[in-house]
Amino acid sequence: MNLQGKRIVLGVSGGIAAYKSADLASRLVKAGALVDVVMTPAAVQFVAPLTFQALTGRPVRVDMFAPDEDIAISHVALGQSADLMIIAPATANTIAKLAHGMADNLLTTTALAARCPILLAPAMEMHMWQNPATQANMALLRERGMYVIGPAEGRLASGGFGLGRMVEPPEILEEARRIIGLKGDLAGRRLLVTAGGTREALDPVRFIGNRSSGKMGYALAAAARDRGGQVVLVSGPTWLECPRGVERVLVESAQEMYEAVVHWAPGCEALVMSAAVADYRPKVRQEQKIKKTAGELVLELERTPDILGEVARRREEWGALAVLVGFAAETQQVEEYAREKLLRKGLDLIVANDVTAPDSGFEVDTNRVILISRAGSQALPLMTKEEVAHRIWDFVRDQLQASVQGRR
Ligand code: CTP
Repeated sequence: MNLQGKRIVLGVSGGIAAYKSADLASRLVKAGALVDVVMTPAAVQFVAPLTFQALTGRPVRVDMFAPDEDIAISHVALGQSADLMIIAPATANTIAKLAHGMADNLLTTTALAARCPILLAPAMEMHMWQNPATQANMALLRERGMYVIGPAEGRLASGGFGLGRMVEPPEILEEARRIIGLKGDLAGRRLLVTAGGTREALDPVRFIGNRSSGKMGYALAAAARDRGGQVVLVSGPTWLECPRGVERVLVESAQEMYEAVVHWAPGCEALVMSAAVADYRPKVRQEQKIKKTAGELVLELERTPDILGEVARRREEWGALAVLVGFAAETQQVEEYAREKLLRKGLDLIVANDVTAPDSGFEVDTNRVILISRAGSQALPLMTKEEVAHRIWDFVRDQLQASVQGRR
């Protein structure tokens, strides 16, 4: 969402990975960015400029001395008006030129004149990558503040296997979001998010779990990262990938989640508990697999620690933790039950949803929630979990600003 309306220069240099940059261009455009593609003459050997032009809906620049090009404008203005320049793939040759300030084609010239952050996605044959010359060039570029993603390990065009593949476009897109986000309204804020469901073991092979997928918590973590937040994500088991730039702590049981939250919360300014924490766990965890018998099996359950309750009790002592957000998954009297939880647990905000609705709650990408604070409540329309996440962070941002003013 933070790429909406942003100007991105995509520099494509001449390697086989250039074909993947077409996908990257398409993803950037879909994310709402205005994408200007600059190709080196070598890149044109791999992918036609027309491909990028069709994907971005904008002219593609290759030739610095084309008669219809306003030289002064194109090489200076492109990099200067951009929010981010991505060079993908960045070949060994282009990297060498960048490291030494050369400007012999439109891509290197644009990079030299650019005032925005530059992200490099190197791609080359593995021995070229390992070569001390390339490594020294990379060290120089990193030292000067260029961002680098990859290369990844895998099968290379040369037939070999090793480090040298360009990182896949979805990951480059995420890194672009992270870099753009560094100037966001949560810049530097230390934020703790919990996600997913917990598993309470019955024996070595079975557990009591719930239907939480973790999607809401992961959307919260990615959205905060996109706005510059430093996010720690305490997550129950899930197949979701950790958003780039987010520190993930994997846990299984409610007890482990409790310990992780109590460990990280004192250093954070806000906690958003979107995890579906088990309220009960088996009183005894059997060391060996439980064998079936002819009769019924009765399980005895005991309460798990109330994580939010404990954090709310200790927040004064921890000082920095200014905002506490909880979730309430309800099946009836949603607002009433949720407001009662807000007050009982000492929270600043509770995000209530009716998990019986088919388009809201577990395992889906959308949510229909009510944001309830002490000041009042706001029923939001059906929206993506990403949009819900941004609304929650809007609240957290305002509360953090208010708490600073309150302390003054
Ligand atoms: N939560 C928690 N620790 C627990 C259980 C829940 O911190 N042991 C948090 C959840 O992450 C969520 C909030 O408390 O943010 C509300 O959880 P929920 O289970 O809906 O509320 P309860 O107070 O347990 O009420 P009930 O089960 O009666 O609905």
